[in-house]
Amino acid sequence: MRIIKHNTFNEPVDRDSEAVPAWGPRVLTITSGKGGVGKTNLSVNLAIALTQLKQRVIIFDADLGLANVDVLLGVTPPFNLYDHLYKGIPIEDVLTPGPGGIRIISGGSGFLELACLTSQQHSRLLEGLNKLNELADFIIIDTGAGISKEVLAFCAAADEVLVVVAPEPTSLADAYGLIKVIDRFKLHRDAYLIVNQSHSEGESLDTVNRLRVLAGKYLSVKVNYLGDIRFDPCVSQAVKKQQPFLLYNCAAAAGVKKIAHAILHKTMATEQQTEQGLPGFISKLGRLFR
Ligand SMILES: Nc1ncnc2c1ncn2[C@@H]1O[C@H](COP(=O)(O)OP(=O)(O)O)[C@@H](O)[C@H]1O
Ligand SMILES: [Mg+2]
Repeated sequence: MRIIKHNTFNEPVDRDSEAVPAWGPRVLTITSGKGGVGKTNLSVNLAIALTQLKQRVIIFDADLGLANVDVLLGVTPPFNLYDHLYKGIPIEDVLTPGPGGIRIISGGSGFLELACLTSQQHSRLLEGLNKLNELADFIIIDTGAGISKEVLAFCAAADEVLVVVAPEPTSLADAYGLIKVIDRFKLHRDAYLIVNQSHSEGESLDTVNRLRVLAGKYLSVKVNYLGDIRFDPCVSQAVKKQQPFLLYNCAAAAGVKKIAHAILHKTMATEQQTEQGLPGFISKLGRLFR
């Protein structure tokens, strides 16, 4: 069967053709600077929205402190990346099925160990991740709060960085702080903004404009707007039931579905990257953690 894929530049890539490199899955890192703005909810529901658009999606729960994705979905991954690296658990067993056809990999402390892998563990990791190459079209990385070394490494290594911001001054300040660091270390030339918990389109646009004006004045990173998600009681109801809100017919779900379309159909990255997709992600991450 011929599978036509799209690379980061949204150009069709025929994976079966030997002339075209296998780009592997597109890696999206979801971050915010501030905690509690909705990163994990977005990661999970965006993943489901993309599977509804016939994409195969794996979520990497890279919040090294808290196992957020598990809690949100009421699933308990029996193994994490650490078990794969150190105990030889096959990567297929680390992949945990979630609702709507998504699959979850819990990072555990596996990522922190990338810097000090033996050559045997390194080849085991690459072998394992090569298998993921064949199993996914998108890898969504849910990061923890703050601008730690690990969060920045996940930003640097991803194809695209999605910055979640709530329409309030503290969240704006933290999102700007994050974009500033991306700019200072030249991690990316583009950042993709998602306004969450917005009460109106006007409020979302105002939030985007504030960030754009600041970034335009002081930074060279381009701030792109991907879309917004309304403040919606449906979200906390779904969280309490440990179910994704995308499965309900609510305003927040409509926002996420639009964003999934935008990600799939719009050309996102304008930068030429030498290392793309999952293989690029892994080699960049290994170097960064070193
Ligand atoms: N669009 C929204 N509308 C209403 N509440 C939301 C929305 N998005 C997130 N929340 C609330 O914010 C809380 C924190 O969300 P979460 O995804 O865990 O944030 P983060 O991962 O950034 O820490 C959730 O428990 C949820 O109740
Ligand atoms: Mg979270």
